[in-house]
Amino acid sequence: MDDAASVAADTAIEQSLRVDAMSEAFVRVEDVHKTYRLGESEVRALRGVSLTLHKGEFTALVGSSGSGKSTLLNLVGCLDEPDRGRILIEGRDVAHLSDEERSHTRNRNIGFIFQSFNLVPVLDVFENVELPLLLHAELDAAARRERVEQALGDVALLDFRRHWPDKLSGGQRQRVAVARALVTKPLLVLADEPTANLDSETAAHLIDLMVELNQKRKVTFLFSTHDEKLMVRVPRIVRIRDGLTVDGVK
Ligand SMILES: Nc1ncnc2c1ncn2[C@@H]1O[C@H](COP(=O)(O)OP(=O)(O)OP(=O)(O)O)[C@@H](O)[C@H]1O
Ligand SMILES: [Mg+2]
Repeated sequence: MDDAASVAADTAIEQSLRVDAMSEAFVRVEDVHKTYRLGESEVRALRGVSLTLHKGEFTALVGSSGSGKSTLLNLVGCLDEPDRGRILIEGRDVAHLSDEERSHTRNRNIGFIFQSFNLVPVLDVFENVELPLLLHAELDAAARRERVEQALGDVALLDFRRHWPDKLSGGQRQRVAVARALVTKPLLVLADEPTANLDSETAAHLIDLMVELNQKRKVTFLFSTHDEKLMVRVPRIVRIRDGLTVDGVK
């Protein structure tokens, strides 16, 4: 093969690999920009972020405070819209979804875990985990109970199902939140600094549990953190700095 033919062959292989990778892409963030306006001033939170998540992947989004982590997670979670660029979930540009389709995607396909747990204090552990299932009209009470018990079993909290959230430790509360995020069997779980309110040992356990559930349940996870120490525990790291992502660190 002469040089030109060899280059052409390499390019063809590269293109077919790229097509394969793209067809497996579950979430694609393409050159996304987001600016917040506060009166006269502007904050450019995202300045051209691109990111691909494949099905079943566990990715940590690592960046310091103000780097744009929450902004990016909110966009991927269809809680907000970019000013420029595209977000594709399973190849569909979420900007082209109707309001109904977007809330369907959010309620059926995406689970959220927050820094401050966001449990409802007047509901017990079981009821907190059951809550998102109440939007699923096709599930009767027995089917819901089965799902909730499986999710609580996954986070080793079945014995705590009739406890009130304020009687649990921070780590236990966040495990309830993990169960609540997974109970709907979502395709994607977004966790925004879920370990920020936990001590380092509890944080490490929570990450290990999320990685284990990612493998067991084949759910795609994107979680954000500013804690460098947690990075050794996760399969893939994407760094975000000043609203720009740097991929492929690990
Ligand atoms: N609703 C908003 N209005 C105005 N500015 C905002 C808003 N939300 C975020 N910002 C600004 O956008 C930038 C990115 O914020 P973002 O919350 O995405 O960062 P972060 O990486 O999640 O930070 P942290 O680690 O503190 O949670 C910051 O400068 C922040 O002050
Ligand atoms: Mg944040």
